[in-house]
Amino acid sequence: MPRVVLITGCRSGFGLLTAAAAARAGWTVYAGLRSLDHGAALAEATAGLDVRPIVLDVTSAEQRDEALRRVVAEAGGLDALVNNAGRALGGFLELVEEDELRAVMETNLFGAWALTRAALPHLRARAPSTVVMVSSASGRMAIPGLGAYAASKFALEGLSEAWRHELRPLGVRVVLIEPGAYRTDIFGRNRQLSRGIATPGVYAPWVAGMDQLFTAMVDRVARDPVEVADTIVRVLHDPHPPLRYAIGPSTGLRAALRALVPDRLTEWLIARILRHARERGAQPPPPQNP
Ligand SMILES: NC(=O)c1ccc[n+]([C@@H]2O[C@H](COP(=O)([O-])OP(=O)(O)OC[C@H]3O[C@@H](n4cnc5c(N)ncnc54)[C@H](OP(=O)(O)O)[C@@H]3O)[C@@H](O)[C@H]2O)c1
Repeated sequence: MPRVVLITGCRSGFGLLTAAAAARAGWTVYAGLRSLDHGAALAEATAGLDVRPIVLDVTSAEQRDEALRRVVAEAGGLDALVNNAGRALGGFLELVEEDELRAVMETNLFGAWALTRAALPHLRARAPSTVVMVSSASGRMAIPGLGAYAASKFALEGLSEAWRHELRPLGVRVVLIEPGAYRTDIFGRNRQLSRGIATPGVYAPWVAGMDQLFTAMVDRVARDPVEVADTIVRVLHDPHPPLRYAIGPSTGLRAALRALVPDRLTEWLIARILRHARERGAQPPPPQNP
């Protein structure tokens, strides 16, 4: 029986390419779109493959529930979830309005959290199963002008790391993908800047320069996003995937600099502590002093 994966944010970029790559690898793919009217590129890239478009704005509780209900009713269960939907926001933090920061968090953090939480009973029922969180190199190292985005991805990293430990004994593998720059619509159709950029005040000397540097850097180094899609599909097939995949231009180096303690060692220690806690919890409580 083909395994079933739900992927969010499949209109373009990593989501679209992962849907195609997973279907080619034999998966039944439910491909989330904010509107079915936005499915032309997906349909073209996945013609003849078992890819089923599904309405899913990750910020909508009704759409999250309805999407999961449909997947389980139609396909009989869920083996993997890829939280790919995301949005970026350019702008020095003082120029970012509260509603703008909240909007980034709603999609990149709360949407991924809420969908995963709702999917867990289904994923546990089909364990071993996998949750892939598409984070970013900006989830490990923040750069000026992308603070709101970095904050959302740092938060996603913390959430995912804790979930990895909590779900490991239950047979659900949580994996973070940390891409560097890849050529997708996030730098084009979906490129977003904070409203405050229009009146940059004291940041004026840096705003334009940063934007140019960033655009030039992306033009120069950004890679083919197929690389990320193929990595995600490899993760879906890996019985023992590591916690993090830093991929893309110079991300390996950045992640290596950050990782003073290897994840494997931390995981091993935390797994021991969890085991110890479980063993203690199973013992009768010590006698109380009179
Ligand atoms: N490209 C890079 O260099 C890069 C690097 C690191 C991390 N990432 C991460 O990779 C993921 C995919 O981005 P991408 O580069 O492939 O960009 P993209 O082509 O712009 O794709 C983003 C996808 O997310 C969808 N989306 C946005 N808000 C959503 C919501 N509330 N609910 C459901 N879907 C939503 C978009 O749909 P609409 O187009 O309809 O809004 C689109 O399908 C994101 O999480 C991004 O942060 C990208």
